Amino acid sequence: MMKEALLLISFLVILVGVAGAEESPDFSPGNDLKIFYSPFRRKESPSWNQMLTEDKSRMEFLSSLAVGSSVVRVASGRGVTQNPTYVVRAGIGTPPQTLLVAVDTGNDAAWIPCSGCDGCSSATFAPSVSSTFKPTRCGSPQCALLPKASCGGDACRFNVTYGSSDIVATVAEDTVALAGDSISGYTFGCVKKAAGGSFPAQGLLGLGRGPLSLISQSTGIYKSTFSYCLPSFKSVSFSGSLRLGPAGQPKRIKTTPLLRNPRRSSLYYADLVGIKVGGRIVDIPASALAFNPVSGAGTVIDSGTVFTTLVQPAYAAVRDEFRRRMGNSTAASSLGGFDTCYAAPIVVPTITFMFAGMNVTLPQENFIIHSTAGRISCLAMAAAGENGINAGVSVIGSFQQQNHRILIDAANSKLGVARELCS
Ligand SMILES: *[C@@H]1O[C@H](CO)[C@@H](O)[C@H](O)[C@H]1NC(C)=O
Ligand SMILES: *[C@@H]1O[C@H](CO)[C@@H](O)[C@H](O)[C@H]1NC(C)=O
Ligand SMILES: *[C@@H]1O[C@H](CO)[C@@H](O)[C@H](O)[C@H]1NC(C)=O
Repeated sequence: MMKEALLLISFLVILVGVAGAEESPDFSPGNDLKIFYSPFRRKESPSWNQMLTEDKSRMEFLSSLAVGSSVVRVASGRGVTQNPTYVVRAGIGTPPQTLLVAVDTGNDAAWIPCSGCDGCSSATFAPSVSSTFKPTRCGSPQCALLPKASCGGDACRFNVTYGSSDIVATVAEDTVALAGDSISGYTFGCVKKAAGGSFPAQGLLGLGRGPLSLISQSTGIYKSTFSYCLPSFKSVSFSGSLRLGPAGQPKRIKTTPLLRNPRRSSLYYADLVGIKVGGRIVDIPASALAFNPVSGAGTVIDSGTVFTTLVQPAYAAVRDEFRRRMGNSTAASSLGGFDTCYAAPIVVPTITFMFAGMNVTLPQENFIIHSTAGRISCLAMAAAGENGINAGVSVIGSFQQQNHRILIDAANSKLGVARELCS
C-alpha cells in the first residue's frame, strides 16, 4: 500500500520538473501572477504519512507564531518541513533579477538568498548590481519590526529558524516587481547563510498579515487585497494564479468575515461554525470550533499546510458520519496517517464547511486522496493535536483549497471562496 503512495508523489515530482523547465522570464499581464508548484521541491518521495507529519510540524510552526512564544519549534529535523509548495516569479532590484519565490500565507517577511549565501542552493540575488538596493540601518523602524533583530556594526541583522533551516540574514530594502507592478523600498531579509533543508531555494515572499508581509508593504498599490487559486496536485498544466489588489477580483463571491486573532496576528482566521457530511450537519460542540482571541483557538486558512486538520471533536464527528454513509463493505486499513480508507472506487457524500454567512461545499477531489493505482481512497483530513499550544486550532489546508479562488480582503475583513478550475 505504501508503494502506491510513493508512486503518487514521484509522479508529482516529475510534473514539477516540467514546471521548472518553463523558461519564460515574462510576468503575466495585469495583476495576475502565475502560481505553480515549486520546481525545487523535495527530491526524495515522501509518503502520505510523512506529509501528515510535516503538517504536524507546520501546525507547531503556526502555533509558535503566538505572541509570547519566541521559539519556532519543529517536531522533527526533516528537511522538508514547512517547505512551501507554491512559487511565483518576482523581480528583485533595478534592473530586476528574476527569482521564483515561494508564497506562504503563514509567513510575513520576505527572505531573498543574496550573493555569496552560504548554503543557498540555487539562484541568488546580487545586491551589488542593483542601483536601488539599500541596507537597512540598525535602529531604523523596519529593523524594530523584526522581533529578533540585532545590530552587527551598522547593519540590522536577524537569525531565524524556519523548519529545519537556520537562516542568517541582514535586513535590506529594494524594489520588488510583481505582475508588472513595482513596489519600491520593500524590506526583506538578504539571506547570507541557510543551514538545513527547509529554506525555499529562491526565497520566500510572506503573504501573512503582519507588518513586514507583502500585503502590509504594498497597501498603497494592493489595498490589503489578494486572491489565489492553487492548482490541483494531479494536474498536468498546474498553473494557478496569485492576483494582487482589488482590480479583477470576483465580485459575486461568497464571503465570511475575515478574523484577526491577536494571539497569532500573522494568520488568517475565519469563523467555522459547523460541518455537513452528505448534507447532514454533524454533531460538533460549538465550543470545539469557537474563535478565541485570548487562547488563539479558531480556524486558520493556510496555504502552507497540505491537509486540513480539525480539532478532535470535529474530526471525529466528520469521520464517523462519513464512515456511516460509506458502510464498511469496502473499508480498508488506514494508509499513512489517514484512518478512513476504502479499497474500491467510491462514491462519497459531499462535505460542506459552514462558515459564518458562507457554506462551502467541496467536491470529492478536495477531500478524497487516491493511491496512484486508484485502489485505495482515503478521507484526506486528520485530527489536530489536542494538547499544548496547538489546542483548539483547526487549519484548512491547501488540498482542500485546490481549484478554488480564495479571496483575502483584509481592508474590508472579508474572506471569499469560489470554485475555479485553475489547473
Ligand atoms: C546569528 O548567526 C551567526 C552565524 O551563525 C552568529 O555569528 C551570530 O552571533 C548570530 N546572531 C544572533 C543575534 O544570534
Ligand atoms: C464496520 O461496521 C461495524 C458495525 O457498524 C463496526 O463495528 C466496524 O468498526 C466497522 N469497520 C470498519 C472498518 O469501518
Ligand atoms: C448553510 O447551511 C445551513 C444548513 O443547511 C443553512 O441553515 C444556512 O442557511 C446556510 N447558510 C448560508 C449562508 O447559505
